[in-house]
Amino acid sequence: MRFEGNLQTSSAPRIIKKPTQIKMQKPNKRLSNQTAIVTGASSGIGISIAHGLGRDGANVVVNYFSNAESAEELAHLISVDKTCGDAIAIKCDVSKENQVIEMYKQTINHFGTVDICVANSGLQKDAPMHEMTLAQWQLVIDVNLTGQFLCAREAIKEFMRRGPRPEVSKALGKIIHMSSVHEVIPWAGHANYAASKGAIVMLMKTIAQEYGPIKIRANSIAPGAIQTPINRSAWETPEALNDLNKLIPYKRIGQPEDIAAAAVWLASDESDYVSGTTLFVDGAMTCYPGFATGG
Ligand code: BGC
Repeated sequence: MRFEGNLQTSSAPRIIKKPTQIKMQKPNKRLSNQTAIVTGASSGIGISIAHGLGRDGANVVVNYFSNAESAEELAHLISVDKTCGDAIAIKCDVSKENQVIEMYKQTINHFGTVDICVANSGLQKDAPMHEMTLAQWQLVIDVNLTGQFLCAREAIKEFMRRGPRPEVSKALGKIIHMSSVHEVIPWAGHANYAASKGAIVMLMKTIAQEYGPIKIRANSIAPGAIQTPINRSAWETPEALNDLNKLIPYKRIGQPEDIAAAAVWLASDESDYVSGTTLFVDGAMTCYPGFATGG
């Protein structure tokens, strides 16, 4: 007798489905009914992440520090697009505790809760180590590290206050830290920046370990060289771009959309079993390109 039913019972192990048995899912909005805060969303990578999350159905807070015009424009673009979630722009210096608390308050008043925190704000104040001022050191640590701590802490508080909504997401909440390839690649002339990104790894992993039991996921994205204003000098002339490509085995500069795609995935239930990890989106920059010919 041929068995045609489903072998699976609640206690039986899962059986591997044949390709023809896999139900093809309709392309869906992965983040519908969820709200995301994206810090530093008025420029560079942040713009693409905010847009990407909105396109996948999330309501988005477009956080900015100085460029109100760009943030308002992006929030408008997302909110008038019927295929996207809603969006508002909120000004906040992520390194200031009272301002971060206020941004979360405004977000919760407007959208009801927060499901996704993308701690993306970051800056560089480069100088040779022996000439680096304490102010240059402190500003980078304040924005790149303390800012991510404050935003993640307020997100965790809100996830815990709100409680689970399994119909919306498997996780209680998702935190995405913006790191860099310089969490592992030392960077001469950028000690403050490299130190801030090196610290993000342990902040992220500790959050994943501490709050995993209540289903909060924390991960980092480590971009390589992405074509944005922060590294303009590395790509604005053909010579500079040629030099940069020597550091990238995949032989192209990254685009903000490369990072946005990773962020949307990490925010969605598709990555539900991914926590405590850094996703390098770098065209293999971390694979010691010098060894392609040397060693
Ligand atoms: C920096 C960029 C740099 C890239 C690769 C990023 O984290 O912000 O300026 O081009 O790392 O070195």
